[in-house]
Amino acid sequence: MDRLDRDIVKVLFTQEVIKDRIAEMGKEISDAYADSVPLLVGVLKGCALFMSDLIQQISIPLEIDFMAVLSYEGRKQSNGTTRFLKDLDFVIEGRDVLLVEAIVDTGMTVGYIIRNLQARQPRSIRLCTLLDKPARRIIELPIDFRGFDIPDRFVVGYGLDFNQLYRNLPYIGILKDDVIGLNRQRKKNGEKKQKIQFYPLT
Ligand code: IMP
Ligand code: MG
Repeated sequence: MDRLDRDIVKVLFTQEVIKDRIAEMGKEISDAYADSVPLLVGVLKGCALFMSDLIQQISIPLEIDFMAVLSYEGRKQSNGTTRFLKDLDFVIEGRDVLLVEAIVDTGMTVGYIIRNLQARQPRSIRLCTLLDKPARRIIELPIDFRGFDIPDRFVVGYGLDFNQLYRNLPYIGILKDDVIGLNRQRKKNGEKKQKIQFYPLT
């Protein structure tokens, strides 16, 4: 993966460390829902790898569903609303819903999703995230299952992207500053402006 690895300044969590932590999370979730058949709702696309590994570590019956919303990433200001790009397939009324996210940053995206899902009257709604970046939190959220706390740096890999790339890295790493600055650089050079205002949540 040379063409991807060279853009990473530091590996935060190796494939093995991620795998071990997810095994622990799977046990916690299995215990928490011992008397229920929860519906795990993944937020696309960032959750794809996490969801896949997590459910294999959960030993109780469960169902899965997915949703996609427009992300706040790249937007300086927000009024706290967003838009669904893909809604759930299932009705969640009366269900125990576990929202599965790859990362909670400001909390605005997940805050919006939880408000929206709550209106559909599930029996319960809990939040599971692999990564938590608490330094940037704007919306206070109770995180029920958390993989790792991370510093206020832009990370990629294991499902997380920068401009849609790096999702296939099997580890999580901090992206080099000069890679993140690429858009600014391109604009300065008069190249075609990259669309960074809105793109599907990852
Ligand atoms: P929010 O700020 O909590 O609403 O996070 C919005 C979305 O931004 C997340 O779901 C991720 O898709 C993305 N995001 C936030 N921080 C990072 C990061 O460090 N790497 C990759 N994506 C991120
Ligand atoms: Mg993204």
